[in-house]
Amino acid sequence: MADKKQLPGHIAIIMDGNGRWAKSRKLPRVSGHAMGAKRVTEIVQAASDLGVKALSLYAFSTENWSRPQQEISALMKLLVFYLQRQVKKLTKNKIRFVASGNIAGLPETARQVILNTIEKTENNRGMIFNLCVNYGGRQEIVDACRRIAEQVVTGQKQIGDIDEAVVTGSLYYPELAEVDLLIRTSGEERISNFLLWQIAYAELYFSPVFWPDFTKIDLLAAIADYQERERRFGGI
Ligand code: FPP
Repeated sequence: MADKKQLPGHIAIIMDGNGRWAKSRKLPRVSGHAMGAKRVTEIVQAASDLGVKALSLYAFSTENWSRPQQEISALMKLLVFYLQRQVKKLTKNKIRFVASGNIAGLPETARQVILNTIEKTENNRGMIFNLCVNYGGRQEIVDACRRIAEQVVTGQKQIGDIDEAVVTGSLYYPELAEVDLLIRTSGEERISNFLLWQIAYAELYFSPVFWPDFTKIDLLAAIADYQERERRFGGI
């Protein structure tokens, strides 16, 4: 059982296996995503109840646009439906919702509901729930480079001023710069362009469970595993 005193401050999850979950039940892929959305509700609640400070979930990558249009539309609809239904509950639990990624590049309805949820929850001071949508880790670093370059061009910064803290400060959410525990479900063991800067010292946990089957018990098992590890951050 997880020890509440040594919780990972920031947990990031690559929610994988929705399609295979559906296929193994002879259901359309979209059913896997729908069940996956229910798990999002459960895991957000569980992490917040435990006292985790930040939870990042990978909902849609910059590479996911290559999926069939019908699947993309279904994912966007699920996202809209989820946020519309959950916004009150997020506030009740003092959860602050933020979104990482190219939100301006999303379909209008999805963009609006995301911005609306960010605004409605911005004063909440409990867990930060960071939904990564139209997100790519390399793109986030490119965006940070552009911001820094602009400051150099306008004379606000010198090249010599650029260090890790400056790059961190130019990320989408600098307060989410350190991931403690990265979980990927479905047995795949890849990073897939997720939070590349932020996972520098993260502990990695790969679960064989498909995301639509990933419950609070599985989250607790991942946290318990994390708590057994000795984190040295490059020291001895
Ligand atoms: C990976 O499974 C999952 C995704 C690409 C999307 C994740 C989306 C959800 C969990 C639901 C919608 C989100 C919210 C916040 C309501 P996959 O389709 O790549 O699975 P496969 O590898 O088995 O095919």
